[in-house]
Amino acid sequence: MNVFDVYPINDITIVKAKGSYVWDDKGEQYLDLYGGHAVISIGHTHPHWVKRIEEQLEKIAFYSNSVKIPLQQQLAEKLGKISGKEDYQLFLCNSGAEANENALKLASFHNGRKKVIAFSKAFHGRTSLAVSATDNKNYIAPVNETDHVIFLPFNDEQALEDSFKGIGKEISSVIIEGIQGVGGINVAEESFLRKIRELCDKYGAVYIADGIQCGYGRSGKFFSHDFAGVNADIYTMAKGMGNGFPVAGIIIAPHIRPKHFQLGTTFGGNHLACAAALAVLEVIEEEKLMGNAVMVGKYLKNELENIQELQNVRGRGLMIGFDVPEELKELRKNLLWNQKTFTGESKPNVIRLLPSLALKKRDAEDFIEALKEEILVLTKGQNVEVGNP
Ligand SMILES: Cc1ncc(COP(=O)(O)O)c(C=O)c1O
Repeated sequence: MNVFDVYPINDITIVKAKGSYVWDDKGEQYLDLYGGHAVISIGHTHPHWVKRIEEQLEKIAFYSNSVKIPLQQQLAEKLGKISGKEDYQLFLCNSGAEANENALKLASFHNGRKKVIAFSKAFHGRTSLAVSATDNKNYIAPVNETDHVIFLPFNDEQALEDSFKGIGKEISSVIIEGIQGVGGINVAEESFLRKIRELCDKYGAVYIADGIQCGYGRSGKFFSHDFAGVNADIYTMAKGMGNGFPVAGIIIAPHIRPKHFQLGTTFGGNHLACAAALAVLEVIEEEKLMGNAVMVGKYLKNELENIQELQNVRGRGLMIGFDVPEELKELRKNLLWNQKTFTGESKPNVIRLLPSLALKKRDAEDFIEALKEEILVLTKGQNVEVGNP
């Protein structure tokens, strides 16, 4: 049997990781500004995280949601405290798509409606309803096609108002990333998020904040949506939540009441996942990683803005993107193969930086040096031989 070939992969086998670095099977060291797609929040193999998981493993790894799991309550309390949403309720699941799927479903249970508003360039995951709210036709199989989802232009208040004016009483929920990730690091305007809040209140719709990529402290606030100064009804979270351990969840405002069996999952909220998620929050708090994201993010953004060849530097905290002009289109590849630095991308021409929130300033400085070197090589037309096509 072979692995189903759905991922275009780099010819690299990573065998070891620590902090913001990973090593391949040949002993080569790489700086990781991609964080395995925004997943590494507190740094690879953080000792506290390893210890917490090991200790839990020795006790019990899994039992189903048919018994009390006090770790879930501990996690809910810690999450409430750090996110500032202490009166919210936590439902645990396993992946980002599953979190959004549950949020959209819960909203529909809550108000009995069917229509969902999503936005251009949105990415919400690959499960049925989440993918229907994702603005990429290539990901939507015929069986996922639905006329329940309405796509509106991102940050367009007028279009949103018009839509609510037309069919406001049919709209179940509005789902939005605070900073679009896959779409290319597009920051939702604060006034736009406030408008969503206002219209959801007026028409009885549910405001769902997709914090899968932009949440968990990455923007410098726990949820990037918080910059708007209004609360969503449901926040979804995944990636950074387990620092690589698969765990996800939604937090739900108090006015949305639970009913037995309405939501459910076998693996969600298991002992091991809760231990990993608790370790992450403990480290975020202890090491003040949101402050670090602000500080190192600011440094990176300033430096990037001073590099003339790069365009439209944008983002918040350690979620940063910039456009790469056509003549530098090999930049990301060259950073990887010549400078041994992982970065993220958004098609067609955006480089995305999604490092660990513990990224050191020194590492950020090394990255800027490496970037400048590669830009110089490319602009002088002296593209050095690279190891992988
Ligand atoms: C904003 C956003 N929502 C949802 C998802 C889906 O998460 P998962 O791949 O864990 O299902 C992603 C993944 O990239 C994402 O960036």
